Amino acid sequence: MSQYQTVCEQLKQNPKTWLVTGVAGFIGSNLLETLLKLDQTVVGLDNFATGHQHNLDEVQNLVSAEQWANFKFYEGDIRNLEDCHKVCANVDYVLHQAALGSVPRSIADPITTNETNISGFLNMLIAARDAKVASFTYAASSSTYGDHPALPKVEENIGNPLSPYAVTKYVNELYADVFAKTYGFKAIGLRYFNVFGKRQDPNGAYAAVIPKWTAAMISGDDVFINGDGETSRDFCFIDNTVQANILAATTQNEEAKNQVYNVAVGDRTTLNDLFNALKAALNENGVIYTKEPVYRDFRAGDVRHSQASIEKVTKLLAYVPEYKIHEGIQKAMTWYVSFC
Ligand SMILES: NC(=O)c1ccc[n+]([C@@H]2O[C@H](COP(=O)([O-])OP(=O)(O)OC[C@H]3O[C@@H](n4cnc5c(N)ncnc54)[C@H](O)[C@@H]3O)[C@@H](O)[C@H]2O)c1
Repeated sequence: MSQYQTVCEQLKQNPKTWLVTGVAGFIGSNLLETLLKLDQTVVGLDNFATGHQHNLDEVQNLVSAEQWANFKFYEGDIRNLEDCHKVCANVDYVLHQAALGSVPRSIADPITTNETNISGFLNMLIAARDAKVASFTYAASSSTYGDHPALPKVEENIGNPLSPYAVTKYVNELYADVFAKTYGFKAIGLRYFNVFGKRQDPNGAYAAVIPKWTAAMISGDDVFINGDGETSRDFCFIDNTVQANILAATTQNEEAKNQVYNVAVGDRTTLNDLFNALKAALNENGVIYTKEPVYRDFRAGDVRHSQASIEKVTKLLAYVPEYKIHEGIQKAMTWYVSFC
């Protein structure tokens, strides 16, 4: 039995209270679904900046009425310290996901990204510290590697940030480390690498590449590739990300705390290969897309290549990614075909 399976069994026997911020978003709503299915009590916070009520409604339909009754939702804002205090009360584990994602959004509006991702993050750290929660796990980002050229990315070797978004995510790590040193409050940061899966928003100017291309293919629109298509990413299916959060939150290993970890698969897929994989998976779901991609300029702030070393997270948190990109794409496409 894997460490993850063991932890899930233990949680079922001995349920805990979890706070998921950003619960109406993509990753937050997937965390919520898994936790409720494990019969946990979940408090959720969201201001619907980029999250949706329909994500919560979908989770409600996927769990039993008893499990749904274990969820308490607060509409509120992490930029408001009072809201943060309110939701942290009597919580065991915090999974802090609320933030404004997207590199281009942060270039267009660095102030709002800064207020949410840095001031909001600081509020959450303070509220969680004051509530004496048992653990605080937060969404960090692979964008922190910035212009560091080495592949695969190893946690301690980072470069200069390439966008305001990357600055905010790096500042999160700095604050978390300072909270460990000054208050003895030890958080764990998970540097996500291009997470994808069901409920990732395909709409809007700042949609991520997989949902954006999938929606375009389903409606027969053009798919735009920024650059020559040889830009590469370590795409990580959502279930792997959920696993990493649960392992991080529940770890008893003191050495594993006040650390940041890459959360990915350890593979690298180019945008050209991704285009073909999505096209093929949609084809299997009855969606035939015949157009060629349209190439356009590289996008400002984008890292050229990204691939994680997952050695540290495997060693210290016993994380084992269950899904490679192709298995994840198959699952995600089935959902998108019914959703879009
Ligand atoms: N999806 C990825 O590939 C990826 C990669 C690296 C890091 N991350 C990080 O993971 C986290 C979750 O990302 P996601 O992909 O689920 O994005 P998402 O936009 O779907 O979810 C973010 C959620 O946070 C909420 N939110 C935003 N500002 C808030 C505020 N001020 N107060 C309360 N709630 C607020 C949004 O409404 C949304 O529901 C974010 O911190 C993001 O930066 C995501």
